[in-house]
Amino acid sequence: MSEALLAHARALATASIAELFVSDPSRASRLALAWGDWRVDVSKERLTPTALASLVAHAEAAGVRAWIEALFTGERVNLSEERPALHTALRQRDDTPVGVGGENVVPRIRATQARMREIAEGLRGGRWLGATGRPIRRVVNVGIGGSDLGPRFVADALATGEAEPVDVGFVSNVDPEAMSRELAACEPDTTLFVVTSKTFTTQETLANAQAARAWLSGALAGRDVARHFLAVTANIDEAARFGIPAAQVLPMWDWVGGRYSLWSAVGLPIAIARGYAAFDRLLEGAAAMDAHVRTTPSGGNLAVVLGLVAWWNARWLGAPQRMVVPYAHALRRLPDYLQQLVLESNGKRVTLDGSPLQGPSSPSLWGGTGTDAQHSFFQWLHQGTFATPVEFIVPVRARHAIADQQSLLVANALAQSQALLVGRAPLTVRRELAGSGLTGAALDAAVAARVCPGNRPSTTILLPEVDAWNVGALVALYEHRTYVEALLYGINAFDQWGVELGKTLAKPIARALAGDADLPSDVDASTQALVVHVRALTARH
Ligand code: F6P
Repeated sequence: MSEALLAHARALATASIAELFVSDPSRASRLALAWGDWRVDVSKERLTPTALASLVAHAEAAGVRAWIEALFTGERVNLSEERPALHTALRQRDDTPVGVGGENVVPRIRATQARMREIAEGLRGGRWLGATGRPIRRVVNVGIGGSDLGPRFVADALATGEAEPVDVGFVSNVDPEAMSRELAACEPDTTLFVVTSKTFTTQETLANAQAARAWLSGALAGRDVARHFLAVTANIDEAARFGIPAAQVLPMWDWVGGRYSLWSAVGLPIAIARGYAAFDRLLEGAAAMDAHVRTTPSGGNLAVVLGLVAWWNARWLGAPQRMVVPYAHALRRLPDYLQQLVLESNGKRVTLDGSPLQGPSSPSLWGGTGTDAQHSFFQWLHQGTFATPVEFIVPVRARHAIADQQSLLVANALAQSQALLVGRAPLTVRRELAGSGLTGAALDAAVAARVCPGNRPSTTILLPEVDAWNVGALVALYEHRTYVEALLYGINAFDQWGVELGKTLAKPIARALAGDADLPSDVDASTQALVVHVRALTARH
């Protein structure tokens, strides 16, 4: 199978994608997938229908469909930690039992959803009173990574622009600036903090939660500040030790990974910010995508095909980077969210059995929002020396119409993918400069500077609009394709051992900066010198 892929890769690595359109007039339809009103167009990728068929055959031979089924049925797909990864159970619409260790977890999910609804409605209805008897008006989620990025992205995506009964803010960074700025927008007696941490041991979150508690205790001395806290965690004991009563703790479970957890009680800030009905629609959209991914044969399966295309670009065509550009202000936080989802999942160097990977794993992923990005990094995309694959995510309908701005937005998205494909040829530029007065070497240089080579691959995902249902489906699609990519690389998408090292090393450095202990002598000379410098600068204030 790899021989077939190798042959396709050799043939396509230097092919002109524009010429592939000329030689196959049906290419645009043969390399596009439909799902309801969605259209996923991979025809501008460095692919042919035959190459895609070989990729699909590879996915089938690698057992991708069986692995997808294993995910849904709660098998231990997180092999290194011997756990299932059951984020799909969180958005399942019916009560079909899902077993983990012999227990059907669906009743626990339903009970948690009922509590989320009750809390969100109580807060939005002004019925949750703070220590002085005034209703809570601002909720601040304190969490980081998967306990922040998902709810932060979705709550922002679903904002309507209209005033909500409760404002929701997010503090993740341990940088005191983050909490200070947030607190400046809060009144102690009307603010509630949701401490979201699966482990309840994450340094940044605990530091920020302690800062919030100190701020409340200072302002509400002698009153019941516990009413100003909720926790979302799998570590109920630690939450209790922090001072949050069990009745105000919502559960997380070890069978849901942090970066896959926005569908759980981690999504509480979404329900508070936009209403529980919106959160439920989000789950519904995700469940619809789940059904598609679970039941659709590989060739028409959005997650499998998009996963294959990403793997093709990285593993077979050597692209070290990948770009995601939503043409929607409401999706402006999607790239940040995807960086954790994709890179914490698939930034790995060994296979499932611990052997070194023979090829690359996930390329880096970054992006920004169109059209803003056109005025920053798109120059690099069009004329830089790397041909980086781009994914355009384009919601077609506007939620708020202002003149013809939405069609201008969509036109720009389509124009950019076209520009990456066709470029701007030297002859065209030369013609344009005909009357400029430039000649000889000056003309040649002006032409060269203006040429865009084109032939740069992209995928376009068209969806009807940004609403809770479509956002749920979009996120679920990215989750599933990330899993598919992991299967193709042969790695585990559900652990993240790499992030532990920095956490461990930060502890002795923090002690040294606080003056409590010297750095161990075996710490490298650069870090030692930096610590000395930091201490000197700190002492000057
Ligand atoms: O960054 C590492 C990580 O473990 C993520 O996977 C997780 O989402 C984040 O830290 C926060 O962890 P917790 O929810 O336990 O505070």
